[in-house]
Amino acid sequence: MSVTEIDFYMEAIDNLPAIVDDKETVKEKFAHVFNDFLQLSHLYDSAIEVVRTYLNILDNEFSVKFQRNPIHNIESRLKSPQSIIGKLQKKGLPLTPDSAQKNLLDIAGIRVTCYYISDIYALVEMLGRRDDFTVIKRKDYIKNPKPSGYRSYHMIVNVPVYLSTQKLYAPVEIQIRTIAMDFWASLEHQLKYKPSAVITPEISEQLRECAERIAETDIQMQSIYMQINDLE
Ligand code: GTP
Ligand code: MG
Repeated sequence: MSVTEIDFYMEAIDNLPAIVDDKETVKEKFAHVFNDFLQLSHLYDSAIEVVRTYLNILDNEFSVKFQRNPIHNIESRLKSPQSIIGKLQKKGLPLTPDSAQKNLLDIAGIRVTCYYISDIYALVEMLGRRDDFTVIKRKDYIKNPKPSGYRSYHMIVNVPVYLSTQKLYAPVEIQIRTIAMDFWASLEHQLKYKPSAVITPEISEQLRECAERIAETDIQMQSIYMQINDLE
């Protein structure tokens, strides 16, 4: 939720039909909720920056020490107010910023793509080692792939955000995967969520087979890397 968006809604309230005679009360209520959302967005945005900065520091440390980078790319996203409300509605939870903060752990999301599987576990360990980060949840979909074939390491980490007058915590969902796992997940997501898509069991099976082949390649690339660097 941005300031521009709030202005937009305020103007929309002004333009409501004349029968709504307590526009000021409506505006006041909206302003309150919007302001809460704005502060929440800022908190989660900042939490993403905290994690991103740490990941960049680790990546740079690797390149100084070992002349290589474990991280290929970092992407982030903040769940939109619309999808926050949609998810709360689906779970039958109150539609307030407070309830979003309490109940949703994936408002802030970071996706990290690594070169090798071993880079993923190295990052996982380093994230877990920071004593001001608390790992709330972790799911290893690399060791235990989803039935779809999806592979990735997921962590939800509660991180501190130092604001002007207080320290607040916010959870960030971190998805860590190889370039190959990301390639599969991106295409599979695109294929499945096409409005016209008909996903038969045969199609699902083909997608799962692709995921398996990609996983084998990831393992082989890791092995080649270790052979070349005499690490085995
Ligand atoms: P959500 O309520 O969807 O967040 O479920 P959850 O809390 O159980 O999280 P889960 O560990 O299933 O991971 C959710 C996220 O992982 C999704 O938002 C996707 O980004 C990703 N994901 C999980 N399963 C798949 C899959 O089969 N295919 C793809 N492409 N992405 C997946
Ligand atoms: Mg999610």
